[in-house]
Amino acid sequence: MRKSPKSDKSLQVSTHNILCTRPIAGLDTLQTLLDPHHSLNIEVIDKPLDPKELLVALQGKSGLISMLSDPINKEVIESCPDLKIITNYAVGFNNIDIHTAKEKGIVIGNTPDVLSFSTAETALTLLLNLSRKIPGLTRVVKNGEWKGFEPSLYNGSDLRGKTIAILGPGRIGTEFAKLCKALWNTRVITLKRESLKGDHPFDIVTEEEFFKEADVLSLHMPLNDQSKKLVTLDFIKRFSKPFFLINTARGAICDESDILKALENGLLKGVGLDVTDPEPMSKNSPLLLRDDVIITPHIGSATDKTREEMTRMCLENILSFIQGKPLPYPV
Ligand code: GLV
Ligand code: GLV
Repeated sequence: MRKSPKSDKSLQVSTHNILCTRPIAGLDTLQTLLDPHHSLNIEVIDKPLDPKELLVALQGKSGLISMLSDPINKEVIESCPDLKIITNYAVGFNNIDIHTAKEKGIVIGNTPDVLSFSTAETALTLLLNLSRKIPGLTRVVKNGEWKGFEPSLYNGSDLRGKTIAILGPGRIGTEFAKLCKALWNTRVITLKRESLKGDHPFDIVTEEEFFKEADVLSLHMPLNDQSKKLVTLDFIKRFSKPFFLINTARGAICDESDILKALENGLLKGVGLDVTDPEPMSKNSPLLLRDDVIITPHIGSATDKTREEMTRMCLENILSFIQGKPLPYPV
């Protein structure tokens, strides 16, 4: 608490120090939404911070608006005793040591739902571009190698009538399944999951059928101990036919060197990654030299509208916290 100006002795003003680790549009509206008893001091960082730098920037801060790329590990959390709220500008929160944060009584928020469609659309974009060989074919045209109309040279694969397999049939996976069904009226399969109840677009199949039928595998699960490095060469070998692999979830779910081996051995028809491990990916990755690979820079939620919504949710989380209310979008 600090005393307000002399002219209004009755007004007690609490100052809240907030760190936002990347510039986000609309942050300045936050103060205008608060009553005069609260004053905000927002520091905005505009470059990626490693844990040491993050820890320094967080000293004296009670609130943090973090990006999915910010490593909020045990050491960071334990070195920031003033920190009371973290709101992650993402649906995924594998960048935060949730266990330690909760132990310290820090409340945590995220931005679910609003980005599900955009992320599903990103997965679809990758799949369509791969199936019609767009990366290689646009290069052919740019390089002046277009040979004119060719009955067979530039053919891609049909997705109509194919089986789309999904791992992680949550909000984003469901949105992607609905898009596939709407486009191709195709079969979308997944494995049994307790959370799948009521109306959903999936055919629940056995593991055996999953690996036998899939023509496409799209990953939509969070990164955790179960999903980390799930997609290895051995995993890919379990599929009975070559398939398109799409990852818009988290890079560390896949082993990138195994993906390369699988492509070289014809086990994968193409790979679309919106996420890599690490991010940014090295520009020397051999995956980048291949026409059957598309890599985008983690743009799942990157539309103006979706980002506006994510900003709104982070601000509402901070606002509610300051006003002593439960977070509207808690983790
Ligand atoms: C994006 O990857 C997110 O988790 O929001
Ligand atoms: C998270 O991964 C979701 O499906 O919303």
